[in-house]
Amino acid sequence: AKKCYLTGRWVNDLGSTMTIKILNANGDFSGIYNTSVSATTKEIIPSPLLGSQHPPNRWNQSTFGFTIHWSFSDSITVFTGQCFVNDDGKEILKTMWLLRSCVDKIQDDWKAILVGYNEFEHLESRMD
Ligand code: BTN
Repeated sequence: AKKCYLTGRWVNDLGSTMTIKILNANGDFSGIYNTSVSATTKEIIPSPLLGSQHPPNRWNQSTFGFTIHWSFSDSITVFTGQCFVNDDGKEILKTMWLLRSCVDKIQDDWKAILVGYNEFEHLESRMD
C-alpha cells in the first residue's frame, strides 16, 4: 500500500499552505506555515511550526501533532491529525486545531480559544 508522507508542501481548504521537513528518525519535524486568513488585522507573515509524528503504523498512515508559533500575532495554534492515502491514491491530512489568542485579563479567558477542522492535500507528493 502507498505510504502517506508528511514531508513536502500541503494546501488546506482555506488556501493556507505549509511545508514540512522531517528532522529525525524519531518523527520530529519542522516547517513553515503560510496562513491565508487571520483572526487579527495584522499583516500575515509565514510562521514556523514544530511537530511530532508517530512512526508509520502497519497501514503507513500515521498520527501527528504540531504547534505554530505565529510570527505576526501573540497567538499559538496546535494541530493534531492523521495522514491518509484516499481511494484515489491522494495523500490527505485530516486535522483539528485549537487557536489560543492572548487576552488582557483572566476574566476574558473564556473567549480566548477557537477550534476548527482543516483538511490538507499534498501538493508535491513524493514518489516511491
Ligand atoms: C492569528 O490569527 O492570530 C494567527 C493566524 C491563525 C490562522 C488560523 S490557524 C487555524 C486556521 N487554519 C488555517 O489555515 N488558518 C487558520
